[in-house]
Amino acid sequence: MPALYNLAVSRSLPSGFAVVGVARREKSHDAFRAEMKEGVSSFSRRKPIDPALWQDFERGISYVAGTFENPKTYADLRAHLEQLDGERGTAKNRLFYLAVPPAEFGVIMKNLKEAGLVAPPSTPGSGAPWTRVIIEKPFGHDLESAKVLNDTVGQTFDESQVFRIDHYLGKETVQNLLVFRFANSLFEPLWNREHVDHVQITVAEEIGVEGRGKFYEQTGVTKDIVENHLMQLLCLTAMEPPISLAADAVRDEKVKVLRSLRPRERSMVQENVVRGQYARGYVKGDEVPAYREEPDVAKDSRIDTYVAMRVHVDNWRWGGVPFYVRAGKRLARRVTEIAIQFKKVPHGLFRAPDGGISPNVLTMRIQPDEGIALRFTTKEPGQATILRDVAMDFRYGAAFGSNTPEAYERLLLDSMRGEATLFTRRDEVEEQWSYIDNVFDAWRAEANAPPPLYAAGTWGPEQADDLLARDGRRWRRP
Ligand code: BG6
Repeated sequence: MPALYNLAVSRSLPSGFAVVGVARREKSHDAFRAEMKEGVSSFSRRKPIDPALWQDFERGISYVAGTFENPKTYADLRAHLEQLDGERGTAKNRLFYLAVPPAEFGVIMKNLKEAGLVAPPSTPGSGAPWTRVIIEKPFGHDLESAKVLNDTVGQTFDESQVFRIDHYLGKETVQNLLVFRFANSLFEPLWNREHVDHVQITVAEEIGVEGRGKFYEQTGVTKDIVENHLMQLLCLTAMEPPISLAADAVRDEKVKVLRSLRPRERSMVQENVVRGQYARGYVKGDEVPAYREEPDVAKDSRIDTYVAMRVHVDNWRWGGVPFYVRAGKRLARRVTEIAIQFKKVPHGLFRAPDGGISPNVLTMRIQPDEGIALRFTTKEPGQATILRDVAMDFRYGAAFGSNTPEAYERLLLDSMRGEATLFTRRDEVEEQWSYIDNVFDAWRAEANAPPPLYAAGTWGPEQADDLLARDGRRWRRP
């Protein structure tokens, strides 16, 4: 709702736009509007809300009560939507947003179809009414369940009507990865095994499971963050230039990356993947509980709240270049970044104090402190040749101001426009799960081994440092 409101502020919504809430509780349109207003007032990036604009926006908000199982809900919804078509000119265009547990998808979609609420796919821009559906993560919990979900969705909607959200793809800095790589001529020639030593991708959070213990006991960080957000970052970093920005052109290239990931064999997983779970510790000076002390978490839980992996992208461009990726809760700092470390100079012309010249590093800071930095070596002014690392640093905030749109604004707008480039396709989600399933197969095989613990507020278990140390490398300290 805050995203929709902000789209209204930026005049990106048509004046006849309408949003209809559907849920079990009986509620008047006005009560629903008041709830939405409260939500927007608390969470909108633009505060306070503009009363005149809100008044206009809320005219498009209404509510239909009913359970998901009852066909009457859908008959009522249909009558209501048809009334809105007449009153607001919504032209029979429908975007269903399923903010519900995946177990409910099947019954909702079947009922939508039976109520005649799903039009066949239409070409964007053709003027024919369109029907689309937005689905949130988690999209399944393994390959098998993802396939079942995809089949369920596929019984009602054509793939071109399905918009699977991975909100990372809506982040400005993530969208900028493609622009940075393919709208500049400087970096692409270096973006390969000839010049890159290794890549590090970090998705670190300070927060714990935030009252979502029950959910986390079912997922863990590997399924919550690596399977989707982190793998998408890896794809955008490693993929070949697409032939266009059309949804399928971009997604084809991402799928190729996913198919080329290694390791897949169970024995290799053990060597290349480290998991961890947070113990008590201090985050920003405050003592925080261990994962096992969080509400709804088993006292002997073996769930991962940290994972680090050495991944290889087995193709011509990246042969022999490791991608070290890690994600974790309750780490020292909130930071998401991609760091490309280039190879060392081939000949030591200068004597550096510690015996080596630091390699160049290009860091794309996804959040916070969004920006891109290039580290290089310079001579310190003076009679002696003393080398010093410096950085050229581009900061979004300084260049463009800090009020950037939220990921959901872009994603909701794109789904209304029928623009699917920033959404995950069926085969993409299945490839992501196929890779992650291997990791879980290996972990299941060592079912009795609890994950190593790390103190909250640190950078994860020491085994993760060993993973890189074996290759003579170190994690960055962002
Ligand atoms: C969600 C995960 O998908 O992403 C959360 O379920 C995580 O566990 C969140 O905290 C992180 O998103 P962001 O946009 O804050 O980086």
